[in-house]
Amino acid sequence: MNLTVKNEKLNKWLKEVADLCQPEDVYLCNGSREEYDLLIENMLKSGSAVPLRKRPDSFLFRSDPSDVARVEDRTYISASSKEDAGPTNNWIDPGELKKTMLDFYKGCMKGRTMYVIPFSMGPVGSPISKIGIEVTDSPNVVINMHIMTRVSSRVLELLSTDGEFIPCLHSVGAPLSEGQKDVPWPCAPIENKYISHFPEENLIWSYGSGYGGNALLGKKCLALRIASAMAKREGWMAEHMLILRLTNPEGKQYHIAAAFPSACGKTNLAMMQPSIPGWKCECIGDDIAWMKTGPDGRLYAINPEAGFFGVAPGTSYDTNPMAMDTLKENVLFTNCALTDDGDVWWEGMTDEEPSHVIDWKGRDWTPDSTGDAAHPNARFTAPASQCPATCKDWEKPEGVPIDIFIFGGRRSAVAPLVYEAYNRDHGVFLGATAASETTAANIGAVGNLRRDPFAMKPFCGYNMGDYFQHWFDMGDRLGDKTPRIFYVNWFRKSGDGKFLWPGFSDNSRVLKWMCERIDGKVGAKQTPIGLLPNEGDIDLSGLDISPDDMKELLSIDIDAWKAEIPDIEQHFSIFGDRLPERLKRQLREFVKRLG
Ligand code: GTP
Ligand code: SPV
Ligand code: MN
Repeated sequence: MNLTVKNEKLNKWLKEVADLCQPEDVYLCNGSREEYDLLIENMLKSGSAVPLRKRPDSFLFRSDPSDVARVEDRTYISASSKEDAGPTNNWIDPGELKKTMLDFYKGCMKGRTMYVIPFSMGPVGSPISKIGIEVTDSPNVVINMHIMTRVSSRVLELLSTDGEFIPCLHSVGAPLSEGQKDVPWPCAPIENKYISHFPEENLIWSYGSGYGGNALLGKKCLALRIASAMAKREGWMAEHMLILRLTNPEGKQYHIAAAFPSACGKTNLAMMQPSIPGWKCECIGDDIAWMKTGPDGRLYAINPEAGFFGVAPGTSYDTNPMAMDTLKENVLFTNCALTDDGDVWWEGMTDEEPSHVIDWKGRDWTPDSTGDAAHPNARFTAPASQCPATCKDWEKPEGVPIDIFIFGGRRSAVAPLVYEAYNRDHGVFLGATAASETTAANIGAVGNLRRDPFAMKPFCGYNMGDYFQHWFDMGDRLGDKTPRIFYVNWFRKSGDGKFLWPGFSDNSRVLKWMCERIDGKVGAKQTPIGLLPNEGDIDLSGLDISPDDMKELLSIDIDAWKAEIPDIEQHFSIFGDRLPERLKRQLREFVKRLG
């Protein structure tokens, strides 16, 4: 290998990886625009990138049909003991997993370039940021990392001779033999994919997929799974949360961090433009929050990412105008449809469907075709700085002080539009029992209700029982400075299958109620599940919603909640003696309140 860097540990690791993976050549990334443009040019030549006439500097990529989302079944937390990975994670003994993966990695980059990506999660040089080095054989991963993280030579300078970094090894797992022609989206079959984490060594090994969270290792692998384990050890939090700033007509600011599972509305809420006059919403982050206590004892959040990897379907000028304005140029699209005039399209983008497009598999599609034109997990990758809703303080190294935590999910029944936790412990109970219908963001069946505690089931890098305890510990430390905790469900449906709540910009009405709760301006109704808005307290001015729908949105079916209890008991039972006593008490009290 002809590459030498100053950092000795990095040098040694890169040499080991190059010897193992046997790439044709090695390239050290510097994060420059020229580098990005050159990589795109190569991908245009090879046919893996499709230019978009309608959007400057934007390109469409079509993945292999087998490689369209995260693979939770193939994702491993390889702690030395199974108990430390916990019951919600897949586990293989680290020695055994490394042996299996080393066999796959051997010669896996033959005929390809090995790219070395020095990146920072969080602003380069900030004390809260973490440095990662991703080694990958995918130019597509490099350009996505350019947008999603801070890729820069300055990262290597910061590492100096002995700085710490998180090694992230990635290969698409498709070596090329002499003269073999490449395919547009190389990857390995599902049974050979491994997304592996070794939390005790802060090490990530990913093999076989080129898609999103499987391959852009700064995101779910580093900023959530590895970071959550570090956060537990070091007394901070790494959460699957958007961060937004809401300003009321008097100019008072509220900072909100909300955890919803994948494809359940974080990006949309983060960029939401309130439908109620005088209120303003600004985006700080749309997927991940790192939070630490500040000198004033409050909890401060930063967004470790630099871009949005957002769900395309459903995004339109009606639902999310700020996202649409972000997507005008410099965007990478994956698995969207291609229109005849050289633009992208997806289900829900326009009122009227185009009469003809090329679908995400590259086939002709018309409104009469069976199946979607864009894959339901089609995504855009866009710089956060391009979003008109992005807050001027989004890169502040000290972060923003969080006033409100929101948990939630996608439930067509049972969970009402909004309720508030009685107290901190009850708030942790709401997070720990959160349930949501599964979405296309993970390979697997869609629409199954599952417990997804704190929206972290796929992303917690250690035993989730210990993670629950960490929430109690953080709350104890923050005391009365703990953010107030609410639960929301934008997705309740009527008997005829329609969403009862208009959602999107009208979600501001629900956020307003939360702010007024904090300021003591409105009361709330005590119910067995928590504190619900009193009739008339949610501002519905200018909204066309029937009183019956509103009633249903805030109704509580005691029998339906009672029917949840066995499922919650079962959910808690898997944690054995790692389940905090305080959660057991919360469950007993909940059962008692239900009567
Ligand atoms: P990840 O990037 O996978 O973590 O997803 P996310 O949580 O950021 O979800 P996102 O905001 O991208 O929304 C996913 C889907 O839900 C999109 O199709 C949205 O249009 C839809 N959606 C978001 N907010 C609402 C809402 O308030 N009401 C309804 N009905 N749909 C919504
Ligand atoms: C999610 O699935 O929660 C995402 C997309 O944000 S991915 O980066 O693929 O994990
Ligand atoms: Mn996400």
